[in-house]
Amino acid sequence: MATVKAPRGTEDVLPGRSEQWSRLEAVTREVMASYGYREIRTPVFEHTELFVRGAGEATDVVEKEMYTFADRSGRSITLRPEGTAPVARAYIEHGMKLWPQPVKLFYIGPMFRYERPQAGRLRQHYQIGAEALGCGDPALDAEAILLPIELFRRLGLSGFSVHLNSIGCPRCRPAYRERLLEYLRPRAAQLCESCQRRLERSPLRVLDCKVPTCRAVTEAAPRSFDYLCDDCRVHFETLQGHLGALGVSYTLDPRLVRGFDYYTRTVFEVLSDQLGAQNALAGGGRYDGLVESLGGPPTPGVGFASGMERAMLAASSAGKAGGIEDGRAGWIDVYVASAAPARRREALLVTRRLREQGWRVETDYEGRSLRAQLRWADRAGARVAVIVGEEETSEPGDPMVVRHLARGEQQRADDAQVVALVGRWLA
Ligand code: HAM
Repeated sequence: MATVKAPRGTEDVLPGRSEQWSRLEAVTREVMASYGYREIRTPVFEHTELFVRGAGEATDVVEKEMYTFADRSGRSITLRPEGTAPVARAYIEHGMKLWPQPVKLFYIGPMFRYERPQAGRLRQHYQIGAEALGCGDPALDAEAILLPIELFRRLGLSGFSVHLNSIGCPRCRPAYRERLLEYLRPRAAQLCESCQRRLERSPLRVLDCKVPTCRAVTEAAPRSFDYLCDDCRVHFETLQGHLGALGVSYTLDPRLVRGFDYYTRTVFEVLSDQLGAQNALAGGGRYDGLVESLGGPPTPGVGFASGMERAMLAASSAGKAGGIEDGRAGWIDVYVASAAPARRREALLVTRRLREQGWRVETDYEGRSLRAQLRWADRAGARVAVIVGEEETSEPGDPMVVRHLARGEQQRADDAQVVALVGRWLA
């Protein structure tokens, strides 16, 4: 019979790697807490309308990449492709406007996009993200850029760079858009097919097209940060001043526009030179109109998200993944073996007592020979073995042996001594 495989673009994280994932999550929680962000967990699916209104109808994600289906009562449901719109929805729904502002939230969870899978691009990927809502100060933009940098630094990553742009606000962007269209229209014939199609509707998207002929055209295109209104300009300059003072180096990238309609003013990406084509380790920006466009009160916001698989890929190519790579080796501290079938129940009791100490303890469930049990202990990485009984003729109540597996040293112990002796040898 044919076996069932995981769907294309999804991954199983097996033991060995799952420890690395946990470590990444633990470091994330530490960094988020130190920056004052608290965790939010939003549903994995939402009403489709949230993303259509939030991310924008004409964006690639909404047009082509969403996992959208009708549920059993005919409502249109979408597996979340990103985390910002759900957080903005939750902000409105739970009246967070009344909380002390800014409300700073982070999340860790799976996102779903129907994209063509390749290295670093999945149909289910995990994101670490943070959003600060309710305050428009550029210091928060600086923090949104600093957060992923701090995270990657603690993970031991290097070889990444920050790209920064400001795409203005609804007051200044229309004039820039017009200016850009005036530049692009006479050059339309040189653009790729999809850029020609989206030229009139979303000319800014042409700027981040990776096709070489499009890049040649946009090389000298008008730059959004040259067309900012006074407020946006001051905001952008203040942000750059903050970044300079914080020692964050960045590249101004006039072609960075990002893929969602909610962005205003600041947009940024953290790019890695350790990854191939999918080199964006993190991306984010300001979205001062998002909450209002979802029916909430006017509320500025800024944040970022980073793909966990990409962070892990960059960590392993930098040799900084840490932990155990092989899921079949090394995950316990103590192995409890029984020398004779008559002593298996005692082994079970000792196992529980040792586990209660917080050690990682495993025992035999298959009635294997003592030799086979000790081989298993070795593969599982046990440092200490407790052998209940010394030989096969051993009877209930006979002493046990505690063996230090690396040193080969061993000592007899009775029930009252065993925990202390194991503790000494594990220390
Ligand atoms: P995004 O740039 O679409 O932004 O995604 C954020 C990050 O998620 C990317 O930089 C990348 O590391 C990772 N990522 C995206 N798609 C995939 C994929 N198919 N496979 C693997 N990794 C992927 C957002 O989603 C915004 N919500 C970020 C944000 C938060 N803006 C403001 N606040």
